[in-house]
Amino acid sequence: MSKAIQHLLSIKDLSPDLVPQLFARTEKLKRLRGVLSQHEKILEGETVVTMFWETSTRTRVSFSLAANRLGAQVVDLAPKGSSVEKGESLDDTIANLRALGCRMFVVRHPTSGEVDRLKEKVGRGTYLINAGDGTHEHPTQALLDAFTIRERKKTFEGLEVAIVGDIVHSRVAHSGMILLSQLGARIRVSGPSEMLPSQIDIPNVNIIRSADTAIEGADVVMALRLQKERSGFALKLTDSDYRSSFGLTPERVAKAKPDAIVLHPGPINRGVEIDSEVADGPQSVILRQAENGLFMRMAIFEALRGELG
Ligand code: NCD
Repeated sequence: MSKAIQHLLSIKDLSPDLVPQLFARTEKLKRLRGVLSQHEKILEGETVVTMFWETSTRTRVSFSLAANRLGAQVVDLAPKGSSVEKGESLDDTIANLRALGCRMFVVRHPTSGEVDRLKEKVGRGTYLINAGDGTHEHPTQALLDAFTIRERKKTFEGLEVAIVGDIVHSRVAHSGMILLSQLGARIRVSGPSEMLPSQIDIPNVNIIRSADTAIEGADVVMALRLQKERSGFALKLTDSDYRSSFGLTPERVAKAKPDAIVLHPGPINRGVEIDSEVADGPQSVILRQAENGLFMRMAIFEALRGELG
């Protein structure tokens, strides 16, 4: 049994020994197809609330299913249809749900740092998982992405990973760079200049303006969606300009190693950041990422309860 972590808000919350344990447990849960015997359902009697203050398909559904498989009762809450529409704050919403006996909250919020702020409000015995906060972090996505890479590439040591797209607004990129760098991969990030930070203070991360150069010889290529809802500026490029310089077209992906794999956290915009031929092609592990999300999130719930098998 591993040491429990109370919240998962950032990749930085994970001790280095916990990550391989999460990988091993996810692998086991995947073999079991997430089907557990009654005594293994460690969330029996527990209520998990998913609070998505931003849209989601994969993340919300996989958290709900994961909690369900572990025996929890799941409540999916969104601002629409809740008292948030009447002006109730997030803090008051959580306080009332806690009064109803809910102790585990999976939160997605458009404001960076909002889930961290909640940590100060909730007491011991309440568990928070960050399911994506603004442009800041999305730790569970980074874990399932790393797990998916490991399934195919076995080791991270010396692996060349190209991440192409809206780096500056992507919480997937922010958590992913930290985790993959810790695991020993070398990361090249690329995108239009207004979507690239001027510097990144994470070891083994290089900014490469040209997507073709970034992808050249890579073992792993990850495309990111243009975060139009966050950019706050008029993107100078049209979708078709973006595709021609940064989109994962078959020609561009052919510059990577022949056995390179292609990831995308979803939702994908076909013909913009990725072509259908690539998204549905033999190198794509996009649906595998979605599949692995369920088992990784089961493992994460177990880790929060200190019951990682
Ligand atoms: C991502 C997100 O919400 O940050 N999606 C996801 O969780 N699978 C990526 C995105 O929205 O582009």
